[in-house]
Amino acid sequence: MKLLIICTAALATLVTRLDAAYSKKHYKLPHKYGPEYKDCNCLNGGTCITYYLFSRINRCLCPEGYSGIHCEIDTDSKCYMENGEDYRGTATEKECLPWDLPSVIRRDRYHADLESALQLGLGKHNYCRNPNGRSRPWCYTKKRFSIQETPCNIQKCRAESEPTCGQRSFSKYFKIVSGSQAEVESQPWIAGIFQNIKGTDHFLCGGSLIDPCWVLTAAHCFHAQLKDKLAYKVFLGKSILNATDNKEQVFMVDDIISHPDFTDETGGNENDIALIRIKTASGQCAVETKYVRTVCLPEKNLHLPDNTQCEISGYGKQDFYDIFYAQRLMSANVNLISQRKCTHEYYDNIRVTDNMVCAGDSTWKTDACKGDSGGPMVCEHNGRMMLYGIVSWGDGCAKKNKPGVYTRVTRYLSWIESNMNAVHTKSRPLPDRK
Ligand code: ARG
Repeated sequence: MKLLIICTAALATLVTRLDAAYSKKHYKLPHKYGPEYKDCNCLNGGTCITYYLFSRINRCLCPEGYSGIHCEIDTDSKCYMENGEDYRGTATEKECLPWDLPSVIRRDRYHADLESALQLGLGKHNYCRNPNGRSRPWCYTKKRFSIQETPCNIQKCRAESEPTCGQRSFSKYFKIVSGSQAEVESQPWIAGIFQNIKGTDHFLCGGSLIDPCWVLTAAHCFHAQLKDKLAYKVFLGKSILNATDNKEQVFMVDDIISHPDFTDETGGNENDIALIRIKTASGQCAVETKYVRTVCLPEKNLHLPDNTQCEISGYGKQDFYDIFYAQRLMSANVNLISQRKCTHEYYDNIRVTDNMVCAGDSTWKTDACKGDSGGPMVCEHNGRMMLYGIVSWGDGCAKKNKPGVYTRVTRYLSWIESNMNAVHTKSRPLPDRK
């Protein structure tokens, strides 16, 4: 008997060593020691191997992130989905009893000796599981002389469909005109658009990341300019205009779609909206980080009440008469102004249309200014930041009774959507050959 135990132990160590050797890439497999795909029932891409020399013991060799006799345990899983019936992670509670505890096997309904144990995720462990359709994973715990089901404290995974837009990791900002310097993590959707003129990159306009591949901006930024997309660059995650750091991501412009009915002939900017498709040199779109995130688009009928406080941000001038742009990203609060007041008291209804929304502050000290164009005016709604306006125009900057005028994003949701979807199928005109 004793000898047998020693033998089994020796065999186990040997098997483990062989496993390690087998995992090494360049190890040449000895004759008759090879993968076999029957008998083991390896899950999650595990490989069944047979040790012929040792009475044909079978075992699973698990890929990284899985363990257990059948590779059924998902060691990387941090949360459960739906009610956790499929949860196979390693979360447990201090008091959880192992599913293979003899008293559990004897007395309880769910344990490691069931025929369906593997299917239910039960085995030689005490990880939380939900084999019986409860609302979340649980485990057996002892209570005095009985054993009971106890729900585990493990987190539910965030549903994939839940949007991640409009959230920021840094909500504080310091004090555009009369604004304050902002860290880019408080406006992680801000984009800086640059144009190369005769070999040097010049800052052109702001924009907002609404999708990893798309930046929304103002059409007037591209008006009256040759729209050679190779001349543009888009920066995300940029705090300082003329310096680079490792937080930022840089893109080429794949496409510029300006609203076909943009016009400035009314004195304002009508349909001042444009979409830019971005991609890196290797063809990728933006990657979400603490410094780079999308902003939410509002729902179609979102009409925020007058006086709602919103935020504007940009790299634009701090005064109308300044020669230089702000070196840092700036951000400020403005309040929405009623359409009636804007069209009757401050401007008129020729320049200001229903496709626009006006915003300012009561002391007329805070406003967007030159260079902020195309940038975001975001307002909080249902706990997320929504892109409610695009910086478009104004009479001067922070002038009394002359609020900033913004493109009303809710009026363009179908235009945005159809153009984002159409781009893949659109046949592009071939370049002129002369
Ligand atoms: N059109 C300006 C630009 O090119 C933006 C003006 C915004 N002006 C204002 N007062 N809110 O950057």
